[in-house]
Amino acid sequence: MVEVEAAVELLRAGGLVAFPTETVYGLGADATNSDAVRHLFTVKGRPPTLPVIAHIANTEALDRWAVEVPAPARALADACWPGPLTLVVARGAGIVNAVTGGRDTVGLRVPDHPLALALLAEFDRPVAAPSANRFGRVSPTTAAHVRADLRSDVDMVLDGGPCAIGVESTIVDCTTDPPVILRVGGTSVETVREVAGEAIGVAGTEAQGRAPGTLAHHYAPLARVEIVSAQTIDARRTQLEATGCVVVDLEPSADHGADAHDLYARLRAADDAGADVVLAVLPHETGLGTAIADRLRRAAGAS
Ligand code: TXA
Ligand code: MG
Repeated sequence: MVEVEAAVELLRAGGLVAFPTETVYGLGADATNSDAVRHLFTVKGRPPTLPVIAHIANTEALDRWAVEVPAPARALADACWPGPLTLVVARGAGIVNAVTGGRDTVGLRVPDHPLALALLAEFDRPVAAPSANRFGRVSPTTAAHVRADLRSDVDMVLDGGPCAIGVESTIVDCTTDPPVILRVGGTSVETVREVAGEAIGVAGTEAQGRAPGTLAHHYAPLARVEIVSAQTIDARRTQLEATGCVVVDLEPSADHGADAHDLYARLRAADDAGADVVLAVLPHETGLGTAIADRLRRAAGAS
């Protein structure tokens, strides 16, 4: 594919390439090139101490870029890759300090998107990529979102259509026994426990130091997000509208997958519509519902 070859050339030259994954679009740089990764942080507006995920082409690459991979990490990689799951493991040689914020661990994932996999296979090195939005904005789930945020600061945007899942990957820290879920996301908590043990917990907000970057405002639109119940949403909307507020509703459907797919596009649309308040009703917390509720709570906490 001509497009993929051009993207690989750019990565080799230290450039920035935005690419689709099944979760959200990533802003990619060569994870073995310190200058490229530093440039990535500058464009993203992200503090250099926050680690970014390194994307790899296949499960075999795990042992090339990580060391002392524990059994639960291997089981999760075998069961869930390619897929919306990031494994934090001990860092091997090759991945530069700028990717991990100087830590001795690295977050690795094999994304489940044909264009991302073609890019990674052709490049044959890990691609460091945070979500392709400006720091503190909602993650992009279309190429248009990426262009709206990053404009000419990105050398190329590979357009793979809207992201199938729509929320970021689940992050599991496999450097502890048992492992700990640092961020809920595209792979359900139920699946992680089935594969790697029922004892696996979900870290609370006190663990934000362990997954820096999972802060509230990372998932918030400009509008204030308020969590309400299905019973009170209509009364609250009437009350807010009476004070002149522009209000947008965000209510769950019966389909968590469809709701996750649309979540960030809806939050962006609320901002585009000049909304002051997004009234959100939380979904049931099973499957992808857990990640949707997590992002909405964080967004609400940020206001
Ligand atoms: O779905 C996703 O994960 C997307 C796509 C592009 O792959 N990426 C993404 O990246 O959400 P970002 O940078 O927005 O979030 C990466 C998260 C951060 O919360 C960071 O703290 C955590 O991964 N992380 C990365 N490396 C880590 C490490 N070594 N230890 C702990 N947390 C790490
Ligand atoms: Mg992000």
